[in-house]
Amino acid sequence: MTKLVERLKRTQDPAARHLLLRTRGAMQYAVRGHVVRRRVARRYLAANAEPKLHIGAGPVRLDGWLNTDLIAGDAYLDLSRSLPFADDTFAFAFGEHVIEHLPERTAVGLMVELRRVLRPGGVLRLTTPDLRKIIALYEDRNAVISRADYARYLDEQTGRPHERAAQILNDYLRLWGHQWVYDEEDLGARLHEAGFTRVQRLEAGHSERRSLQDLERHGGAEWVNRAEAMALEAIR
Ligand SMILES: C[S@@+](CC[C@H](N)C(=O)[O-])C[C@H]1O[C@@H](n2cnc3c(N)ncnc32)[C@H](O)[C@@H]1O
Repeated sequence: MTKLVERLKRTQDPAARHLLLRTRGAMQYAVRGHVVRRRVARRYLAANAEPKLHIGAGPVRLDGWLNTDLIAGDAYLDLSRSLPFADDTFAFAFGEHVIEHLPERTAVGLMVELRRVLRPGGVLRLTTPDLRKIIALYEDRNAVISRADYARYLDEQTGRPHERAAQILNDYLRLWGHQWVYDEEDLGARLHEAGFTRVQRLEAGHSERRSLQDLERHGGAEWVNRAEAMALEAIR
C-alpha cells in the first residue's frame, strides 16, 4: 500500500493524481473531518478576535491562522464544497498555490464562499502563478531567472527533462494537478464576479496589511514566487 502511494505521488497522470488526492483526502477526513474540525474551529474562533482562514495550507502552518487542507493542515476542508463556516466569520482569508488546482468554475464558487465567510471589509489574499510570468519564462525574459536555470529547477522538481521552452510551458500548465493558471486580469475578473469590490495586485511577501505580510512559503525559496507568482488582495 505504501509503495502504491509512493508511486502515485510521483505520477503526473491526472487520473492517478486525482485518485491520490481523494484517497489521502479520505484519510485526512477520517482523522480531522467534521467532528475534529468543528472542535478545532470553535476553539480557534473563541481565542481569536481577528480570525484568519488559511486554505490549501498543505504542510505550511501559519501561526495565528486556522490552517486547513484536503490532505494536511489542522482541519480537513474540501474547497470544492460549501465552506462549513457561518457568514461574516473571518477577518482574513489566504490561499497560496491552491486556486490553480481547482477547476475554473469550482474556483469561482470558492471565491463566492470565501466572500460569504469574510466579514464586511475582510480581505482575501490569493497567491497563485501569474500566467504572464510563466510566458516570460517560456520567452526567456523572466525578470528573476533565466530559462536555462529555471529548466534545471523544473528538472529537479519533476524528474523530467526540460530541454525546450515548450516543455517548460506545457508542463507548468499541466503538472501537479494544475487546472487553470490565471493572469492578473483574469483572476481580478473572477474576484469581481464573486462579489469582491476592490482588488489590488502585490508580490509575494508584500502587503499594506500587517496580517497579510510575509505569509508565502511556496517552493522553499523566496525567488520561486518572485519568478512565478502574483498575489491579489480582494476586499469584501
Ligand atoms: C501546491 S500545494 C500548496 C501548499 C501550500 N499552500 C504551499 O504553498 O506550499 C496545493 C494544496 O492544495 C490542496 N488542495 C487541492 N485541492 C483541494 C481541495 N479541493 N480542497 C482543499 N485543498 C485542496 C492540496 O491538498 C495541497 O496541499
